[in-house]
Amino acid sequence: MVKGVGASHAKTILLGEHSVVYGRPAIAFPIRSLSLRATATFTDDENYLATPFHSGSVADQPRGNDPLEKKLAETAFRNATQQLQLTARKMNVSVDGYIPPARGLGSSAAVAGAIIKAIADLHKKKLSPAEQFELIQSVERVAHGTPSGLDVYATSTEVPIWFQNGSAKPLQVLRDPPLLIADTGLSGHTAEAVAIVRSKLEKKPGQVQKLFDDIASLTEEAGSALTRAEFETLGELMNKNHEILQYLGVSDHRLETLITAARNAGAAGAKLTGGGLGGCIVVLARHEGDLKNLSEQLVLAGAKNVWLANGADAEAA
Ligand code: PMV
Repeated sequence: MVKGVGASHAKTILLGEHSVVYGRPAIAFPIRSLSLRATATFTDDENYLATPFHSGSVADQPRGNDPLEKKLAETAFRNATQQLQLTARKMNVSVDGYIPPARGLGSSAAVAGAIIKAIADLHKKKLSPAEQFELIQSVERVAHGTPSGLDVYATSTEVPIWFQNGSAKPLQVLRDPPLLIADTGLSGHTAEAVAIVRSKLEKKPGQVQKLFDDIASLTEEAGSALTRAEFETLGELMNKNHEILQYLGVSDHRLETLITAARNAGAAGAKLTGGGLGGCIVVLARHEGDLKNLSEQLVLAGAKNVWLANGADAEAA
């Protein structure tokens, strides 16, 4: 059977969320242990979509009261077929794998990316990087309003990236840092968090622009630390970035509980990752061998899930 495939994965922002919306740089890493694979085939029946969140025929128009995840996946399907002018034949697209939604892990961009790539592949259409970016970003706009575009690159690129002003480049790292992600189990609220930061910026522009510049400096230093695998320094930079995010009002007590637990258990650094107000934290261990203990301590402190950025589940650490 002729089929098309599309792959994507989760991402974690190591430094630079929020300030990235205002032209400052951010560093993101792929989370290889959380990946998706979409498969597209032709069908004589109706257009059909099966994702980890829902299965069913694809509506011609968005329906107001549909759950967000359904709306986003259908938007990816429709935008790909319309913009690539592929309306002649019906398709069946299914997405395998699972990235928890609304946790700052890039689930919406990853699902959209996998669907769009599988549809293009089925039709033997080679998408240019710009076409692929624009298509996935069109779905992200439905999810977040004014996304920076970071998630689009970070969920499709196999290597760490440096992202600024709408473009991404691979980031040279001497060695992958021992990172893990811990989930509060509660949905993050990226759009609300972005609005909180915007309102702070409107009220105190000078002060908040200065904080964005401070995050930019921390991110620059983190980029250098990664080229030399200086993880102690990197951890301190992550902690300082988190302090600014706290001040900007996008942390919450569950994130703080996990961050404190990670630091008490000996992490080199810990901060919220993504939009915040729920969602996940990213933790840098001092050594690979510390990951197992860190993950156990985080579960004891209430983490609903822990994943290694570079491996299988944290239990395997
Ligand atoms: O919560 P996420 O994974 O969508 O990350 C949001 C990152 C922000 O910088 C807060 C917003 C953005 O568009 O970059």
